[in-house]
Amino acid sequence: MAEKGKTIGVLTSGGDAPGMNAAIRAVVRSALYKGMKVKGIKRGYAGLLQEEIIDMEARHVSDTIQRGGTILQTARCMEFMEEEGQKAGADMCKKHGIECLVVIGGDGSFRGAEALAQHGISVIGIPGTIDLDIGCTDYTIGFDTAVNTAMQAIDKVRDTSTSHERCSIIEVMGRHAGYIALNCGIANGAEDILVPEFYDYDEQKLVDNIIATRKRGKKHHIIINAEGIGNSIGMAKRIEAATGMETRASILGHMQRGGSPTVKDRVTATMMGCYAVDLVEQDKYNRLVIERSGVITDVDLAEGLATKKEVDAYQMEICKRMSI
Ligand code: ADP
Ligand code: F6P
Repeated sequence: MAEKGKTIGVLTSGGDAPGMNAAIRAVVRSALYKGMKVKGIKRGYAGLLQEEIIDMEARHVSDTIQRGGTILQTARCMEFMEEEGQKAGADMCKKHGIECLVVIGGDGSFRGAEALAQHGISVIGIPGTIDLDIGCTDYTIGFDTAVNTAMQAIDKVRDTSTSHERCSIIEVMGRHAGYIALNCGIANGAEDILVPEFYDYDEQKLVDNIIATRKRGKKHHIIINAEGIGNSIGMAKRIEAATGMETRASILGHMQRGGSPTVKDRVTATMMGCYAVDLVEQDKYNRLVIERSGVITDVDLAEGLATKKEVDAYQMEICKRMSI
C-alpha cells in the first residue's frame, strides 16, 4: 500500500561500519518505492545542526552497496549531548518536514535519537557498529566484515610469529567491547584473549601461561588484545622481559572499520533498512530494528537501550580449551 506524503530523514552517526551504505540505500529505495520522500542528512547530528540536508533520489545510492564507509559521512557531535543542541536538532527536522528520522549507528547515536523523540520527532534506529555491543540485538551491521578483516590480518601475523617462534600481541578494535577479540580468538586459534569485560589485570597469569604453552611445544603464543585493555606495546616489552620469548605487538586499528561489506552485512543492512521503512508505513515509531534468533524484528527504543550485553563466558572457555 503506497504511503503518500510521508517524509523521512536518514543519517549515520558514531563510528562508521561496513554495510552502512547498504542500509542507507535500502531506506532510500524502500521509502521511494512506497511513495515517501527521503532527506539525507550529512555528518550525523553535526550535519543536522548545520543544516546539511539533501533530497535523496534512487540514483543517489547507485553503486554503493559494495562500498565501505558511509556516503552520508558520519561524526561525533558534542553539541548534541546538550539539551540545547537536541532541541535545535528537533527544530531542524520540523523545518524540513521530517516526520521520522532513521538513525544508523551505535548506542550513543540511539541516545541522541531518544533525545530527539523527547522533543517530538519520531525516530527509528538501525544498529550499525563493528563492536557488536548493543544489548537488544544479536547483530549489528559491520561486525562480520570487521571480524573477517581482523581474522585475515591475524592469520598473517601468525605465519611470521610461528616462523620466528615469537609471542605476538595483536590489538583489535573494541574500546569497551570484546566481541571482535573473542571471535578472532576462536577463529584464529589464539592462546590468550584479553577483553575489557573479563580482564583481571593479572599479567603474571599471562606470563605463566606463555611459559607453560612453550613447554608443551607450541611454536608461537598469540594474544588477542581488545583495544580497551590498552598499551599493547608496553605489554609486549614486559612479557619479553618476563618470559625471555621475543614478543612483538601489532595494532590493527582502523583498517578493521573499512572495506567492502561481506554478504552478511549487505543482506542484513538491506533487510534492516527496508524493515525500518515498513515501521514508518505502519506508524510504528521510536523503535530499534534488531535481529533476534535470525529474524529481523523491532523493540521499543527505551527498552532496547536498557538491555545490557554480556560477553559469552562459554565462548571464552572454548577458546581456552582450544589452546592446550
Ligand atoms: P555510537 O553511536 O557508535 O555509539 P558515539 O557514542 O560516539 O557512537 O555517539 C555518536 C553521537 O551520538 C555522539 O557524538 C553524540 O552526538 C550522540 N550521542 C551520544 N550519546 C548521547 C547522549 N547520551 N545524548 C545525546 N546524544 C548522544
Ligand atoms: O566504532 C567503534 C570503534 O571502532 C571502537 O571499536 C573503537 O574503540 C572506536 O570506535 C574508535 O573510535 P575512533 O574512530 O574515534 O578512533
